[in-house]
Amino acid sequence: MRWIKIFYTVAVLVILTLFIYDTYLTKHVRVFKKWKTSLPSRIFNLTPFLLDDPFAFKQMFGEQVIFYVETTDSVNLKPRDVCSLESVTTFNPTVPVIIVVTVTNHTSDRLPFYNSTSFQSLMNNTQNLFVAWATIPDIAKDTILEQFLFNDTRILNSEYRPAHVCDFVRFLLLWKLGGVYLDFDTITFKSLAPFMKLKNFLIATFSNGILTQAMGFERRNRWVELLMNCTKNEYYSELYPIVPYTVTTVLSKIFNISFNDPGAADSIKSQMNESLHILGSEIFYPFDYENIKLAMVNSSFIGYMEKAFKTHYGIHTFNRLTGHIRVGVNSSKPLAVVARKFCPRTTSLAGTHI
Ligand SMILES: *[C@@H]1O[C@H](CO)[C@@H](O)[C@H](O)[C@H]1NC(C)=O
Ligand SMILES: *[C@@H]1O[C@H](CO)[C@@H](O)[C@H](O)[C@H]1NC(C)=O
Ligand SMILES: *[C@@H]1O[C@H](CO)[C@@H](O)[C@H](O)[C@H]1NC(C)=O
Ligand SMILES: *[C@@H]1O[C@H](CO)[C@@H](O)[C@H](O)[C@H]1NC(C)=O
Ligand SMILES: *[C@@H]1O[C@H](CO)[C@@H](O)[C@H](O)[C@H]1NC(C)=O
Ligand SMILES: *[C@@H]1O[C@H](CO)[C@@H](O)[C@H](O)[C@H]1NC(C)=O
Ligand SMILES: *[C@@H]1O[C@H](CO)[C@@H](O)[C@H](O)[C@H]1NC(C)=O
Ligand SMILES: *[C@@H]1O[C@H](CO)[C@@H](O)[C@H](O)[C@H]1NC(C)=O
Ligand SMILES: *[C@@H]1O[C@H](CO)[C@@H](O)[C@H](O)[C@H]1NC(C)=O
Repeated sequence: MRWIKIFYTVAVLVILTLFIYDTYLTKHVRVFKKWKTSLPSRIFNLTPFLLDDPFAFKQMFGEQVIFYVETTDSVNLKPRDVCSLESVTTFNPTVPVIIVVTVTNHTSDRLPFYNSTSFQSLMNNTQNLFVAWATIPDIAKDTILEQFLFNDTRILNSEYRPAHVCDFVRFLLLWKLGGVYLDFDTITFKSLAPFMKLKNFLIATFSNGILTQAMGFERRNRWVELLMNCTKNEYYSELYPIVPYTVTTVLSKIFNISFNDPGAADSIKSQMNESLHILGSEIFYPFDYENIKLAMVNSSFIGYMEKAFKTHYGIHTFNRLTGHIRVGVNSSKPLAVVARKFCPRTTSLAGTHI
């Protein structure tokens, strides 16, 4: 008799626990339950629950996510940006790709760039593409950057404020939720799984040091805390790439390595530290900043570009430098070849030029 009583008590407790757990999930994760079939549910508010509830976030999206960040108001995603999303979602079909759009308040139900046809089409046809919105105060809440982003006159008055805020927001998202961050000017050539597995990584280039265009960190990683702290303390509002510059300087000091010596990044591409991987230019830099323009428009670079499809994971196109360049969609320019191969849908909807 006693054993039967114990058995029933345990059974009731188990069922109760499962019930409470399920209720919790349903309450917090409702938006996600339908995501496979319903487009509107893939556009959601990152607050109030998800941003500060890593448990619910993980239940929804799993272990690995890729973030993009959009901090400029009323922007229309250009075909080149959509191309980045198409290539990434195609090669990583099981990884949720989440564009975090910062908004001024929660009543903005219409997202500005949702107007673009190529983006709408991609959104309609891509199950692992999400748009999440949040306010910057919510993203910075309870972090070491909270005071800085809103009360520090240096950043408030900086002419590069949106870009710098975007640089900090990517750190904050990785700090709060963990995952991979990618810039819109990254077109990928293959699955990112091999280096996403490393969890904590940064990427160094040939000659520009470490850029924060692509990086991955586990939630609450202490390297992120350190880098946020240093970039905040050494913030200089008049230098556009102040955040990557500071990251490069700080890590050069810690590891006693000069990332800016030609080839230095490649020579340390292997694991430098068990808890932080600094990968070399073989990831996204078949061409560095100085050559990227030529590489995209000069047909004599097509051979290099096609080789990169095999040797590299993708290309960082430095849109700040090359965003204005447009090439005919059917031309033999390297950029057009990349676009037709890695984002065919977007290219076919782009019109005459991409
Ligand atoms: C919130 O955003 C909407 C649309 O951007 C705007 O019309 C509205 O005035 C804003 N509300 C507040 C309280 O700022
Ligand atoms: C979206 O497109 C519609 C119709 O083309 C236009 O009226 C509206 O102003 C656009 N909205 C934005 C935010 O660009
Ligand atoms: C995407 O889906 C929405 C809702 O179903 C529809 O209104 C819109 O026309 C579609 N856009 C494209 C470009 O397919
Ligand atoms: C900014 O400073 C003001 C005045 O000192 C304070 O009331 C406010 O809470 C601060 N904001 C943040 C986000 O810390
Ligand atoms: C941040 O930097 C300040 C000043 O350099 C230092 O006192 C503090 O310990 C640092 N905090 C973290 C979390 O690194
Ligand atoms: C840093 O590296 C250089 C050579 O690359 C070496 O001469 C120097 O002693 C190192 N400094 C420290 C503090 O390890
Ligand atoms: C890697 O970095 C962590 C965190 O700073 C440190 O504790 C550890 O000793 C480092 N490991 C190596 C092999 O340098
Ligand atoms: C294209 O690249 C080739 C080889 O580097 C160079 O000779 C040529 O001048 C370039 N053409 C243009 C238009 O820049
Ligand atoms: C490019 O080529 C495709 C396939 O041949 C064709 O359907 C399309 O109209 C062409 N686009 C332009 C802008 O010439």
